[in-house]
Amino acid sequence: MTDLTPVLSATWGSPKSWSIDTYTKAGGYGPLKKALAMEPGALIQAVKDSGLRGRGGAGFPTGMKWGFLPPDDGGPRYLVINADESEPGTCKDIPTLLSAPHTLIEGVIITSFAIGCNHAFIYLRGEVVHVYRRLMQAVREAYEAGHLGKNIHGSGFDLDITFHAGAGAYICGEETALLDSLEGRRGQPRLKPPFPAVAGLYARPTVVNNVESVASVPAIVDRGVEWFTGMGTERSKGMGFFSLSGHVTRPGQYEAPLGITLRELLDLAGGIRAGHELKFWTPGGSSTPIFTQDHLDTPLDYESVGAAGSMLGTRALQLFDDSTCVVRAVTRWTEFYKHESCGKCTPCREGTYWLTQILKRIEGGKGTQADIQQLLDTCDSIAGRSFCALGDGATSSIISSVKLFREEYEAHVEQGGCPFDRSASALFEYSETPATEEAHA
Ligand SMILES: Cc1cc2nc3c(=O)[nH]c(=O)nc-3n(C[C@H](O)[C@H](O)[C@H](O)COP(=O)(O)O)c2cc1C
Ligand code: SF4
Repeated sequence: MTDLTPVLSATWGSPKSWSIDTYTKAGGYGPLKKALAMEPGALIQAVKDSGLRGRGGAGFPTGMKWGFLPPDDGGPRYLVINADESEPGTCKDIPTLLSAPHTLIEGVIITSFAIGCNHAFIYLRGEVVHVYRRLMQAVREAYEAGHLGKNIHGSGFDLDITFHAGAGAYICGEETALLDSLEGRRGQPRLKPPFPAVAGLYARPTVVNNVESVASVPAIVDRGVEWFTGMGTERSKGMGFFSLSGHVTRPGQYEAPLGITLRELLDLAGGIRAGHELKFWTPGGSSTPIFTQDHLDTPLDYESVGAAGSMLGTRALQLFDDSTCVVRAVTRWTEFYKHESCGKCTPCREGTYWLTQILKRIEGGKGTQADIQQLLDTCDSIAGRSFCALGDGATSSIISSVKLFREEYEAHVEQGGCPFDRSASALFEYSETPATEEAHA
């Protein structure tokens, strides 16, 4: 069995794990001093060599992204941390920020130094006010310790950090919508190119990185590339959080090498809740195609999960046991995507609306067999035809669940309702369509 590899979570169990004292006693801010003595180019090369891939979902190589910034032209360049974390099931960045905010702050300082940025931004999901306060406190501590501000530790390098709390929109986690929101506009995705590396925040070269990606950088600087590449698989290096939620005995964050399997994670997490069996699960959040028991031994790395027909995404493993109605779960997710569709493009704006109508009809026992095909046809009008990845993500659970559990959709039609005992599958509460949505029809 693969062991856990607590790196970012190493101090979470310590008293006042969020304080700078605890972090420093555990060796924190040592990597910063090491990094400030290095050439910025050497830091970028080290992160390239480590094989670290973006932990925000897409898995783009982090060092390569930093290397895309154009040569210094004397103007500002920015680092923007994506702490929006709004995908259903994804719950790793918020615990990191609550338990050990200095891992991110140290990562921000090292990354900014590497890319030549003197002003970094952290875009935080607005609902988590307690996390906002904790981060503010941690940044204050970092300024007082001389890790931020002017001429950091006599290096001649200056850095300030600005926070921005979003207003609670999933789309503002999409990096270009995030930049628009940060600039004070309505958060909607931008047309690419130009990519943020060339024209990002205030049209200046910008790196947008996930919390976990940047928080992983101090450990790479500290322990070296070989240590990091010694974990994981051939093309998915290092460790990462696997967030187990749902019908599991011990839900939570399991920091482990990429390539661990769900079977191994379940061994660590006490298995599926007593008396039940695993029915389906998401490997990377609600926007990734669902898996079943057949995928228990699929290595959770980018390549293996992709080859098995899904995506590693944010490693948000939502587990559903045999008491769950798949139609019901998929309907709830789809309502989320409809609600969060920003409305910029027609396939997603209209399509997610119609998807929820059809799904609710089937779930409520008023659907027809033709509705199941209509559902797939509507997905076909959205996936690959939308302006950003939210549209694709909205269709993933539908297409995969019809493929894997078509008989359950058909049973809803044939039996005029859910064949499951509602009291047993009470994971989600049924909600009627609000009157305002009926008016849309
Ligand atoms: C609808 C949508 C929501 C997203 N939400 C987040 C998010 O909350 N956090 C995040 O880091 N990336 C999110 N992403 C991915 C970002 O666009 C981007 O790829 C990421 O921040 C890059 O950081 P990384 O390279 O460090 O992973 C989202 C993408 C989409 C399409
Ligand atoms: S796919 Fe959806 S979220 Fe993305 S731009 Fe189009 S309407 Fe907005």
